[in-house]
Amino acid sequence: MGKGHFITLEGGEGAGKSTLARALSERLDAAGVTARTTREPGGSPKAEAIREMILAGQARDYGSFAEALLFSAARIDHIDSLIRPALDRGEWVICDRFIDSTRVYQGVLGKLDKTVLAELEAVTISGLMPELTLILDLDPEIGLARAAKRRRPGEAIDRFEGETLAFHRNLRQAYLDIASAEPQRCAVLDATLPPEALAEAAWHILRARLPIDPDT
Ligand code: TMP
Repeated sequence: MGKGHFITLEGGEGAGKSTLARALSERLDAAGVTARTTREPGGSPKAEAIREMILAGQARDYGSFAEALLFSAARIDHIDSLIRPALDRGEWVICDRFIDSTRVYQGVLGKLDKTVLAELEAVTISGLMPELTLILDLDPEIGLARAAKRRRPGEAIDRFEGETLAFHRNLRQAYLDIASAEPQRCAVLDATLPPEALAEAAWHILRARLPIDPDT
């Protein structure tokens, strides 16, 4: 059995990560590779329960560190119950958000101490770094408008969508800073592209950086 590969998608609200995750998984399937898509926070029943709690804003009053601990608790369960077993079976895993979301939302924007956050990250992922991270870059005004459009009638705005435009602008810059600091792992994509063109650009990068062995 071949080796699985771990890819993450990152970016601000409404950037098109989940659509891209599906498109990449379909292309991998067509290339004879078993791929599965998942998301954070969530991806396993226990992590989805934590997701509901955080996005409803129930942890906000406890501060950024408590939120980072909850995201990490969800991540540990997700890794143990879904991601590592899939990679061990030789499957590819495409995850909508992972550690960079914690680095950006809780770290840079929540102003958490860098050393503390790095220590928390190390115990949480225990060596499981994504091999490729695609950062979907988008003007937050466009992203937030897209996110508002897809909200169902009566559905409340979530914990982070409700932050200020300045927050979302800083978030965009924080992602670009990660991409510059870790160019071997990260690639930036223009999320204003139509979905098919975005998928094509992402597929091109994936093919260039990771070996596709249909025997996996
Ligand atoms: P989304 O999956 O619909 O984008 O919602 C997840 C929200 O949670 C999004 O606003 C980003 C935020 N988030 C964090 O703040 N920290 C994290 O570690 C993760 C995974 C998500």
